[in-house]
Amino acid sequence: MSPRKIIIDTDPGQDDAVAILLALASPEEIEVLGITAVAGNVPLPLTQRNARIVCELAGRQDVAVYAGCDAPLTRKLVTAEHVHGKTGLDGPQLPEPTMPLQEQHAVEFIIDTLRSNPKGSVTLCPLGPLTNIATAFQRAPDVVENVAEIVLMGGAYFEVGNITPAAEFNIYVDPQAADIVFQSGVRIVVMPLDVTHKALVTGARVQAFRTMGTEVGRMVAEWTDFFERFDKEKYGSEGAPLHDPCVIAYLIQPGLFQGRHVNVTVETGSELTLGMTVADWWRVTDRPPNAMFMGSLDADGFFDLLTDRLARL
Ligand code: BDR
Ligand code: CA
Repeated sequence: MSPRKIIIDTDPGQDDAVAILLALASPEEIEVLGITAVAGNVPLPLTQRNARIVCELAGRQDVAVYAGCDAPLTRKLVTAEHVHGKTGLDGPQLPEPTMPLQEQHAVEFIIDTLRSNPKGSVTLCPLGPLTNIATAFQRAPDVVENVAEIVLMGGAYFEVGNITPAAEFNIYVDPQAADIVFQSGVRIVVMPLDVTHKALVTGARVQAFRTMGTEVGRMVAEWTDFFERFDKEKYGSEGAPLHDPCVIAYLIQPGLFQGRHVNVTVETGSELTLGMTVADWWRVTDRPPNAMFMGSLDADGFFDLLTDRLARL
C-alpha cells in the first residue's frame, strides 16, 4: 500500500516534536506533505522555528514548513510556557535551524494541497489549536469535502480539563475553530486526554530512548525529562504524557486505540466551561455521531512502536 499523505499542523511543544519525529521515521506508512505551524504552546515565531529544528534533527531539511495563524479566530492567544518552557522545546541545548521557512502562508498551503490532490487522499493531523484548519475551511469551503480524515489531539471527557477544570489546552485556546472543525462533516478521530494520559513515559521507557545511543534518542529523553515535571506535580503521574504522538501512532497502528463513534460538541458560550468537548459517550442524546472519540490505549504497544521507529532516525 502506498503511504498515507498527511499534513501535520502543530505548535511544538516537546510532544509535538516527538510526533513529528515518529512521522518522519515511518515513510512506509506516512508521507508528510508539509508541516504547518500555528500559535499555541508558544507564539508562532517559536512554533515555526521549533518545527524546523525538529526536521533538521531528523535529517529532513527537505520537509516544507509553513507558518500559519498567529492568534485564535476571535480570542487572545493563551500559551503554555508553564508546561513546555520559554522556547516551547526547553530541555536540551538546540541549535538555531538553518533550513528555510516557506514563504507561502500555512492556510494557503493547506487549501492548495487539498485542491491539487485527489479527493479523499490527504489526511490532516492537527496537534495544536485548530486555527489553521478552521481558517482554511472558512476561506475555501470547497476543500472540506476533499479531506480524507482529520486525526487530532484535543479534548477530554473522563479526564476533563488540563488548562481549566473543564477544557483541554488545544481546544480551549481556540474553541471557535474547534467548533468549526467538529461541525465540518469531515471524518474525525480524536485523541483526547483520556487516551494521552495513558501514554506515559516511565523511567524504563525514557531509558529506552536514552540507550538508543543516537542524537534523536538523547533529545527525546531530555525533552521528556523536562516536561514530565509538570504532569508529575499536577497529576502525580509516573512521567510525561506523549499526547501528540498518539495521532501519528494511530495512522501506523490503529489497533493500539479503542474508542466510540459519538457526538462531540464544543462549548463556545459559557465562560466557565469554554472549550469543553462535550462527548456523548453514553449516547444519551440523539445528536448525530461526528467523531471517533478514543478512550483507551495499549501503552506498551505504543511505546514499542515509538522506540522502534525513533531508533531508525
Ligand atoms: C496538548 O497541549 C499541548 O500542551 C500539547 O502539545 C498537546 O498538544 C495537550 O493538552
Ligand atoms: Ca501540541
